[in-house]
Parts: sequence; structure tokens; C-alpha cells
Amino acid sequence: MKKRLITSALPYVNNIPHLGNLIQVLSADVFARFCRSRGYETLYVCGTDEYGTATETRAREEGVSPEELCSRYHAVHTEIYEWFRISFDKWGRTSTPQQTEIVQSIFLSLHAQGFIRERTIEQLYSEKSAMFLADRYVAGTCPKCGYTDARGDQCEECGSLLDPTDLIDPRSVMDGTRPVIRETTHLYIDLPAILPRLQAWMAEASERGRWARNAIRMTEAWIRDGLKERAITRDLKWGIPVPLEGFEDKVFYVWFDAPIGYISITATLTDQWEQWWKNPREVELFQFIGKDNIPFHTVIFPSSLLGSGQDWTMLHHMSSSEYLNYEGGQFSKSKGIGVFGTDARETGIPADVWRFYLFYNRPETSDYTFTWDDFQEKVNGELIGNLANLVNRTTTFLTRFFDGALPPEGAAPAGAHHRQAFWNEVRQREAEITEKMEWAGLRDGLRRIFALSSYGNRVFQAAEPWKTRTTDPEGTHLLLADLVYLVRDLAILIEPYLPATAERIRLLLGAAPGESWSWDMLGEPRGLSRIALPEILFEQLSDELIQELRDRFSGSQADRARRALEADAASGAKPGSPKGVRDGKPGAKSDKNRKDHTVSENTVSENTVNENRPDGNAANEKIEDRFAEKVELRAAKIIEVEQHPEADKLYIERLDDGTPEGRTIVSGLRGHYTPEELLGKTIVVVANLKPAKLRGVKSEGMLLAASSGEGDQEIVDVLFLEGVEPGSRVLLQGQERQASPEESLKRLKADDFFALPIRASGGTVFVGETPLVDAGGNPLKTLRVSDGAVG
Ligand code: 2FM
Ligand code: ZN
Repeated sequence: MKKRLITSALPYVNNIPHLGNLIQVLSADVFARFCRSRGYETLYVCGTDEYGTATETRAREEGVSPEELCSRYHAVHTEIYEWFRISFDKWGRTSTPQQTEIVQSIFLSLHAQGFIRERTIEQLYSEKSAMFLADRYVAGTCPKCGYTDARGDQCEECGSLLDPTDLIDPRSVMDGTRPVIRETTHLYIDLPAILPRLQAWMAEASERGRWARNAIRMTEAWIRDGLKERAITRDLKWGIPVPLEGFEDKVFYVWFDAPIGYISITATLTDQWEQWWKNPREVELFQFIGKDNIPFHTVIFPSSLLGSGQDWTMLHHMSSSEYLNYEGGQFSKSKGIGVFGTDARETGIPADVWRFYLFYNRPETSDYTFTWDDFQEKVNGELIGNLANLVNRTTTFLTRFFDGALPPEGAAPAGAHHRQAFWNEVRQREAEITEKMEWAGLRDGLRRIFALSSYGNRVFQAAEPWKTRTTDPEGTHLLLADLVYLVRDLAILIEPYLPATAERIRLLLGAAPGESWSWDMLGEPRGLSRIALPEILFEQLSDELIQELRDRFSGSQADRARRALEADAASGAKPGSPKGVRDGKPGAKSDKNRKDHTVSENTVSENTVNENRPDGNAANEKIEDRFAEKVELRAAKIIEVEQHPEADKLYIERLDDGTPEGRTIVSGLRGHYTPEELLGKTIVVVANLKPAKLRGVKSEGMLLAASSGEGDQEIVDVLFLEGVEPGSRVLLQGQERQASPEESLKRLKADDFFALPIRASGGTVFVGETPLVDAGGNPLKTLRVSDGAVG
């Protein structure tokens, strides 16, 4: 087994990370925990990225030295990651002697290999501030896409890397003046000369390491567009000195030194760092970054290493996530919009709940939008309604009726073949989860873990133990034992994601404190004897709390600070309320006043699980009620299919929906179905969805399909109905059939629809725990995808 070296992008030191930034660090954490549990020798390193203009400028603004600024913020970062329980093997920083030494030595090797050029250039200089302007401090219009607020290093809109002099109508961000041009001499890395090595490496590595698709696409585009020499020095003070005569007053560009930080941070942990970083045959390097950092990790950093002529451990798997957006906009550090690491803690909502939500929706293959409603929905519906429910009902039942004891091992397996079928199913699913997680498919992994939990809930439900406990006590006891072992497996599976919760479940199942469980115990139902008293794992997120948080975190941090001041003034309190971060300084901690939403009474809850109404769970009822209230599903027959003229993935379908005028929808089924496979079929359409234009064609609703997998592996499975009339309703089982074909529910926004998840589980389609049924009362079934999201 190879060793696994794991990194997450080194966060800039000079501001507070928001949830969008935290995803990289959290992702690497989950992956590292998974690797340790699987028995890989694992090293996860990260740290703050400290050099560069941003820090120098910020320090000047705050009237402190860059060193002081970095130390202060490094501490803020440290606290946030500790709170989120990030399991770094080494959490370091880039302003260390090790960093200077390794950066200089890589530079000198590149120089010795002939890959460094000297160029005198004209650079933008602010006469007002008497300084050369760093790339990020020049703004202007992007020559590639016309975006008017592009920065001199990169256009945030189209992602192109730029030189500041490329900008049209440049201006200094520092003082607003139009910069003048001055000459200065810099050092360049000769990327074109290294390109053949890079290409040879990339072709193989990207396949073997199954890079994320966005990484492959962007890297190929970069290479295709032609690499240029890139300047690696800057006219600054706060950085690593350039060890070359004539360059004493310059430092290395922060993007040249930052990735080398991964190496030097390892060197601050161990003298044996070369066993990780100069050991490509025994070590696999997994890197977790956001998509805006791709070229630095797949082109520039690898080129530095390849050009040095030494045998470095190179990138193996690239996990580059998409963006997390906030309530319809973008998280923004500079504008202070969104939920920041320090804020998450102040909500009183436990770290594991945040971790759950961030991974359940990890922007793995497309952007994802954080909304408070969605947060509430997913936490109450899945985390509590599904997982916590299974843990609670199982342990409660065992406690109440079997005194918390498991049957002796080898007890006569009454329905032995049932148990075998159960464990075959569990093991099969566990193998799939493992396979996903091996390649850092963290969102899919978590979703499958929840599907497994949902399977456990269905088994509990179908077995009706509250009835059989009197008619067949032994069989019921064995069933409960299997479910308790499933809960144990779930604790192992979720440990990477929800470490604190996993620990609580471990204790709940009678493990000794600190006892560790690992992946190789999965699917082996033995070793437990008596469980501890059940406890409630999470508290529901109430409407009031969510409303309060939505208000509290609306607007920018400046707005929030102003509101807090106003509130303080109104209440006559002293200004300085501890809300988040003000002026970049961490707010006072308010642990004392914090509402703690984790209840940990050691009592059996009477109202969470009721053996006569085992599904009497408020969250489930809620999701289903809300669904019934908001979503109108109807059968419709496809009477025409044509290709969308503007998009090769889309079809335009004409539907007979029971109305005289019919309707038209656009769907992304090309590549998955031929027109013939669709024509004449009856499908399910979300009939009250707000119409939307898809590439210029109006789509009146969408059809339901289950899907699983991603990219080329994606399987799309349209839900087909048989023997029902176009226009007839598709409802939740048991839902009143009040709506006639003419009656319509209120228009539904796409976001609201997606906040009410439908999923296929074991080939049946559910909302919460309730199947969807057609007008004949038949549950909706999938054909190709047995477990997956339906949308
Ligand atoms: O985008 C950022 O926050 C950068 N500081 C990431 C650096 S990643 C690595 F190269 F250090
Ligand atoms: Zn652009």
C-alpha cells in the first residue's frame, strides 16, 4: 500500500475563511480520516500562506509589521480549524526558515538547469504611493472577456491568468490613480522550455490519478493556449529573498513560493520530509483545492518541480471543487458576505452539523448555493430524520425491551437467510461507499452512507418490531442486533465526516472511551455486548432559529457590524457586541451565552421514537407535508422530441399533459436516451415549476429522472409510468387525492423544488420516508439507478 500525502490549499493568512474556503480544508480532513481508518500511512499538511502584497498592504493599513499581522491571523485560523476538528498532521505556515531554504534551493536548481530568464520590463508604478503595483493592486478591463473589474493577476470572471499590463484602462486599487510605466528587471520561469516534460507528465498523471474534470479541462486549455514565461519575482519586502546577485531588493512572487509551502511545512514536522516529498514511487499525493487555484497546481508548481531536475513526489489525485455560493450571491472575503468560520461557531450549531451540510452538498461537479432554508431542510430531514432517527429508534428499542443487551454471539439465527440477505445488501453498499471515497468522491460517499441509513430505517419499519416483540421475541432481538451493528458500521463510515458524532455513537454502543474503530470492521456483526443509555444526537433546527440566523447574517460584515452597533445603542449596552469579526479582529467569544443545540441528556426520549408509530418523526412529516403542499407532479406523455438547436445536451419535448394546449419542456437527456426511446412514453413532470428559458427555449416544468455517478460515469434514469392518463397526479403514498387535474398549486421556484429532495432508494422513489405513487397507487420505480437523487 502506498503512503498517502494529503494537502489542502494554504489559506491566505490575512483574512478569515468563510464556508466556501473551509471546504478545501474540510475535504482534505475527511479524506485523511478515511485514509487513516483504512490503514494507509497518511500525512495531511496545511498552513497559512503568508507572503505577498496583500499581507504587506494590510499590515501597513493596520499599522503593524507583517510578521505581527500574520501571527495574529494565524491564531484566528488555528482556532477555527480546531473548532471544525480538522485533523492536520501538521498545521504550519509559510514564513519559516525551512520555507526560505527550500524555495531558494528549488529556484537555484531551476537556474542551474537553465530554466530561469532575466527580463527587463515596464511595470505599472504608482507615483502617488511611490511603489510598483503588485498585480492584484491593478484593476481594469479583462482583455479576454471584457469584465471591468479584472485584477492584474487573474480575471475572476473568465479565469484567465493575466499580466497587469494586459489590462485595459488600468487603475491602482490602492489610490485610484492611473499608474505610470517604469522599468524593472525580473526573473522568469521558462515554462515553454519545461512544457515537453509537463505534457508527458500530465498526460499520464491526470489519467492515473483520475483528476477532477475541471482540472483536466483547464490544464489542457492552458497548454493549448500556449505557455508563456512567467515572472517569479516582485518588488516587495515581505517575501523570500532572491538568492541571486542584482536581485537583493526583490522577493519571490507569492504564487512561486506558496505551493512549496506544502513541502516546507512537512519539513517543520520532520527531518525525514524527503521520504514524503522525494519519494514518488512510494507516495501518492492528493491535493484539495478550489477551482480558481487549478493552474497553479497543475501547471506552475509541477513545472517548478519538473524543471528542478530532481525526483519529486508529484500530484497524483487532484480534487478541485467548484464554488459554494451564498443565498444567491457569492461568498466574498473582500466584501465580507456570507458565513465565516468564526460565525459558524457563534450560531451554537455544532461543528458536525455544518460538516454534514457542507459535504452533503459539496460542490463537487457543479457550484452549489448555501441557503438557510436548505440548511434547515437537509439537517432536519436527513441528518436527524434519517441517521439520528435510526440510531435513536434502534438503541431505544433495544434498551426498552431487551435491557440494552445484544443476543449472545452465535445465537440461533431464526431467519438466517434474512440476516444473510441483510448483510449482503449492507456489505455491497459499503463496498460502493469505499470505492467512492477512495477517489475522494466525498459527496457521493456521504449520500450513499445516508442511503444505507435509510435502508436501515426501512428494514426496521418493514419488520414492525413493535408488533413482533411479543409474537417472536428471539427473532426481534436478532433483528435489533443486526440494526445495532448497522449503526456501528454507520458510525465507522461517518467518522471521517462527523467525527464528534461518531465518537458519541461509539460510546452509545458501549465502546470504551478512546477505543477506535476502523474500516476493516465493516460488515462484520460481532464484538458488541451491551449498549449504553440512548441519547439524542442533534436538536432540530427550528424555524425561529433559522429566521434569526438569516437576518443576522444578511448583508456584508460591515452591515452586520452596523446593525450590532445600532442594537447595542438601542438597548443601552456598551458597543462591542461579540458578533463575528469586526475590523478583521476576532470578536470576543461568547461561549457562555451560546445556545447549545446539542442535547446530551442520558435519557430515553419518549417523543422521538414511539414504537406504535415508529415513523412519528417531526422532520419526516415536515418534509413530506411541505412537499405535498408545494409540489405538483403529473403524468405526461411525450409526443414529440427534437434536438435543441443551441445545445448538444438538450432535447425539446412536447408533452400531452391532459390539457388542450399541452406543454413544452427542455431536458438534458441527449447522450442518455435516443428520441425513439422517449417518444410515446409517459413521464412525470413537475407541473407547477416556474417556467425557465434554457438556451433560449422556454421550458414549462421538468421531468423526473434519477441519476447516479458523475461525468462519463453518470447514469440517468427517467421515471416512466405505465397505464396512467396524461394529466393524472403523482402523489405521496397516503396523500389525499384532493387535487383534480384542473386544480393547480402555486408556482414553484426551482430553488424551492430542489430544497425538497426526492431520492431513489432500493429502486423505489421516496420523499423523506414515503414513496411516490401514480394514479393507480403503484409506487414509482427506477430501472437503471437503484439509489440516487431524483430531479
Ligand atoms: O487562494 C488561496 O487562498 C491561496 N493562498 C492558495 C494557495 S495554495 C498553495 F499553493 F499554497
Ligand atoms: Zn476575463
